[in-house]
Amino acid sequence: MLTLAFVLAAPAFALPAYHDAQIPLRPLDHSQGYEFDPLLHLPGISPYFDAVGFGLEHTAPVGCNVTAASYIVRHGAIYANDKEYEEYIKPFLWKLEQHRQGWSGPLSFMETWQSPILEDKLEDLTPSGAVDAERVGKHLLARYPDLVPETKRVLADKKSRTYDTAQNFVKAFPQVDKIEVVRVTQNTNGSMEALIPHKSCENFSKTPGIKEQKKAIDLYAASVSHRLSPYMPFELEANDVVGFQMLCGYESAIKGTRSEICAQFTDAEWMAYEYAWDLKYAYMVGPLNPLSPYLGFPWLHSQANLFSHIAKHDTPGDGWPDKQRFFLSFTHREVPPFIATALGLFNSSSNAAEQFPTDHINWTRAWRMADLIPFLGHVGMEKMTCERGAVHGDGPGEFIRFIANTAPRPIPDCQDGPGASCPFHLFKELIGKGAEKHKDFHEVCDAKDKE
Ligand SMILES: *[C@@H]1O[C@H](CO)[C@@H](O)[C@H](O)[C@H]1NC(C)=O
Ligand SMILES: *[C@@H]1O[C@H](CO)[C@@H](O)[C@H](O)[C@H]1NC(C)=O
Ligand SMILES: *[C@@H]1O[C@H](CO)[C@@H](O)[C@H](O)[C@H]1NC(C)=O
Ligand SMILES: *[C@@H]1O[C@H](CO)[C@@H](O)[C@H](O)[C@H]1NC(C)=O
Ligand SMILES: *[C@@H]1O[C@H](CO)[C@@H](O)[C@H](O)[C@H]1NC(C)=O
Repeated sequence: MLTLAFVLAAPAFALPAYHDAQIPLRPLDHSQGYEFDPLLHLPGISPYFDAVGFGLEHTAPVGCNVTAASYIVRHGAIYANDKEYEEYIKPFLWKLEQHRQGWSGPLSFMETWQSPILEDKLEDLTPSGAVDAERVGKHLLARYPDLVPETKRVLADKKSRTYDTAQNFVKAFPQVDKIEVVRVTQNTNGSMEALIPHKSCENFSKTPGIKEQKKAIDLYAASVSHRLSPYMPFELEANDVVGFQMLCGYESAIKGTRSEICAQFTDAEWMAYEYAWDLKYAYMVGPLNPLSPYLGFPWLHSQANLFSHIAKHDTPGDGWPDKQRFFLSFTHREVPPFIATALGLFNSSSNAAEQFPTDHINWTRAWRMADLIPFLGHVGMEKMTCERGAVHGDGPGEFIRFIANTAPRPIPDCQDGPGASCPFHLFKELIGKGAEKHKDFHEVCDAKDKE
């Protein structure tokens, strides 16, 4: 998995320009100047970057045009997630305040280091998060120059971080003054189940995986604490190690420049951190939670209906402006993983179920959430018309393609179309079957057995 950080295309976030050293045809030495970048290994808390994916081209395949697209986007950088702050970061910062003296060697800078996290604004969008949102908006405008300018309605939920992200995102669009950001606060036409399924599901909780994650953290944190002890005035407990590492992600995301803390941990320590969080997300919002596909299908189902309506009636229906062909919804970190799980976008290529042992890292897992849920992480769905591929005969055909953080990702069960896309009629069947199988959203979600 060396390739992860290796061929990083064009990050929206300004990383140092060592990519020059990574041009394959002019190798400098055997490792071709490979450098590890922790910001690419922080599931959930890193500034946005384009995922590498599998190398499928980002532009529509030759002979195809994108005729509609819908994206569901996580909000931009916040100061800190409440829970992560209470559990990992705050206890570390508290000890830091008690021990301002006694840092040395590589950690000397910690004597004067100030936390960038504003406690009274924890879950607010940061200024740099706002700038990044506009940047990703600009990227999508460049990707869909004909579709984006017709967008008049955009969805967010009631939280200010999604609404503010939406407002900043659309600043990149030429028709910004004509755009209405709608706050979805009622489940009209299933809109809340599609946008924030976990909040419409009483039986969903954030606890699955806590036990297992703690084991994975304990496995590496003790050695980190031991390694850093000569430079520190107090002993790092396991959760302090995690908090210290998290500050690399949050400080970089808040300030828009790389935090000095990022350089204080070894590559192996970052990979262990990443694994502990991939494991947690697998249990909470991924393949190890039986609720995940139930929570991913409402969005897929409603987008499949939307695209069918466009194909049949040449308007999107459902109260959308007639000419709108590009759809945007702003949500939270849980939702892209539900959708990815429902489709198998982050499944391993073998049929084996994803496995997350707690006594060693599973290096060959496909479930890598750093690539899906940085701030502004997104899943996009493109509808393409291609010259060939009609169901009957040789006329134009329609296809669906999925995008995760700009890189196309095939649906394992349906990838025979151009650029590994899925023929639209097969896609509708797939979603129909999935929706049928997972239609008991309320059956599994309305917690009868919960007091
Ligand atoms: C719900 O769907 C109906 C019919 O498709 C549509 O007329 C109505 O505007 C929709 N409501 C909202 C709030 O989108
Ligand atoms: C992806 O993995 C999950 C769980 O490991 C499995 O249930 C699902 O069928 C897989 N999906 C695909 C499309 O392979
Ligand atoms: C890692 O997970 C894959 C499935 O993604 C599984 O086939 C493999 O056995 C696991 N490896 C280890 C070492 O746990
Ligand atoms: C794609 O768009 C171009 C330019 O508008 C057009 O010439 C071409 O026929 C379109 N192709 C298909 C398959 O619709
Ligand atoms: C709630 O979800 C859990 C899995 O997270 C599942 O085992 C349980 O059966 C669900 N409860 C209901 C009422 O479906």
